[in-house]
Amino acid sequence: MPAPMSHYFDADPTTASEPRDVVWSLPDGQLTLTSDRGVFGYGSVDSGTKLLLLTAPGPPADGDLLDLGCGTGAIALTMARRAPAATVWAVDVNARARELCRANADRHGLSNVRVVAPEGVPADVRFGTIWSNPPIRIGKPALHELLVGWFARLEPGASAYLVVQKHLGADSLQRWLSEHGHPTERIAVGAGFRVLRARAG
Ligand SMILES: C[S@@+](CC[C@H](N)C(=O)[O-])C[C@H]1O[C@@H](n2cnc3c(N)ncnc32)[C@H](O)[C@@H]1O
Repeated sequence: MPAPMSHYFDADPTTASEPRDVVWSLPDGQLTLTSDRGVFGYGSVDSGTKLLLLTAPGPPADGDLLDLGCGTGAIALTMARRAPAATVWAVDVNARARELCRANADRHGLSNVRVVAPEGVPADVRFGTIWSNPPIRIGKPALHELLVGWFARLEPGASAYLVVQKHLGADSLQRWLSEHGHPTERIAVGAGFRVLRARAG
């Protein structure tokens, strides 16, 4: 029987580890992140994530913020740098991603990042914003459930910022969210991606 295909969203990747550092050049300075096989963005800077980091407005200065699907941590660590008094929850189902994100936060001295599996965020935590390059490849029904579940935990009046590839359904996701209680608009486009702002509703 052929080996089951591995995905970047596997809970426990079995692909042999081969860490590689990636340097992100951002307006707030460089961020060197260790990446690895079995984790999204191995050895490269993702253009979508970079667009989100270049175009999202400054996060709330304090409170709880969420990076949904943190991978190696480009989004969580950037939020943590931009909002040093906030607690940034970096959530991922992939254990290897969580280890990398934790190590990357330590490397940059960002002690305000808390890296956990989804069930590790206490139920009473509410978020001042959510930033995400969401896992489109888990499929539409699972993605919709994931997003509305976490968006329900936005503070009243808060917004989530998502980057989605146009050819992977950014426009239909924008419509779907708007029709399901989260008025959503496009705030930026570039390199085949859309950055969407979805309101708490
Ligand atoms: C497109 S990647 C983005 C990674 C990282 N934020 C970046 O921009 O480089 C999406 C991430 O979502 C994670 N993921 C998939 N399903 C998830 C779920 N149900 N809850 C939390 N994270 C999930 C994947 O493991 C993956 O790391």
